Amino acid sequence: MSDSHELAFNLRIARATDAAEGIRSFELVSSNDAPLPAFTPGAHVRLRTPAGAVRKYSLCNDPSERHRYVIAVKRDAAGRGGSVSMVDEAREGDLLCVSEPENAFRMSRGARSYLFIAGGIGITPILSMIRSLQEQPDAKWRLLYLTRSAATTPFVEELRELDAGGHVIIHHDEGDPSRALDLWPFLEKPQDHQHIYCCGPRPLMDAVKDMSGHWAAGRVHFESFTDGSVPRKNDQAFIVHLARSHKSVAVPVGQSILEAVRSAGCEVAASCESGTCGTCRTGLLAGEADHRDMVLMPEEQASQIMVCVSRASGGELTIDL
Ligand code: FES
Repeated sequence: MSDSHELAFNLRIARATDAAEGIRSFELVSSNDAPLPAFTPGAHVRLRTPAGAVRKYSLCNDPSERHRYVIAVKRDAAGRGGSVSMVDEAREGDLLCVSEPENAFRMSRGARSYLFIAGGIGITPILSMIRSLQEQPDAKWRLLYLTRSAATTPFVEELRELDAGGHVIIHHDEGDPSRALDLWPFLEKPQDHQHIYCCGPRPLMDAVKDMSGHWAAGRVHFESFTDGSVPRKNDQAFIVHLARSHKSVAVPVGQSILEAVRSAGCEVAASCESGTCGTCRTGLLAGEADHRDMVLMPEEQASQIMVCVSRASGGELTIDL
């Protein structure tokens, strides 16, 4: 994730608590008691962690609240240090530099029924969505909440309080893929005006995408909590040619096309920067892409690319920028 996003203000950590094993929850408040900028369900903020890196965290409190933002951070020892520094070093009373809320995972106005699918810490944006539905007694919703074990499952009590109608299924696989919940019975028959909102690790999102190809366009929404610049094994540097700008830009390992072309002075609209919202959709004019987004349909992949996450699968790319 780029560090160039504007961080708007300092917020004080009013409360820091353990939400589950390896997951810490932080309540952030204004340092002068002023109301905070409003946010919509599914929104996130970017903040500078004690280690100095900027990271994105979903807001999980009720969007009607203006006196606080609540985030939850999973300590990822295999990550790049941002979450470890938040969990190990951020203390009550500390100030954190935070952006205004942004939302790349908005609830659709046309939806009348919601199927939420959360994997682990992916519950955070979905929790704010479910809280917002408390004011809409007619809204139908169901949550499939998939985690490793009871000990690693945050917000169980909160969900119990929100779930008056038995809408929540919590499933633990104990780390054994053969014990994963079978999602097909929930996805096989789309209901009228039903939308899916899925946030969790990549294998879960891939499974939901694979099983929901028959749902109408625009009814399946994803949010990822990893950014596009996290390198994968065997990633290679490559060149991307910008057809309209007449520039050629090197994209090193560990940097996305989006970051590389921005560094070269080219403006590109982007929002989630994790391949889920569709904002950075760009024409692919030549070359073979390694598509890593959750947006493009197979028939679109030959001619379009999401530059925040996707790369060249070998050789060079020419894109319509
Ligand atoms: S910025 Fe959201 S898909 Fe690229």
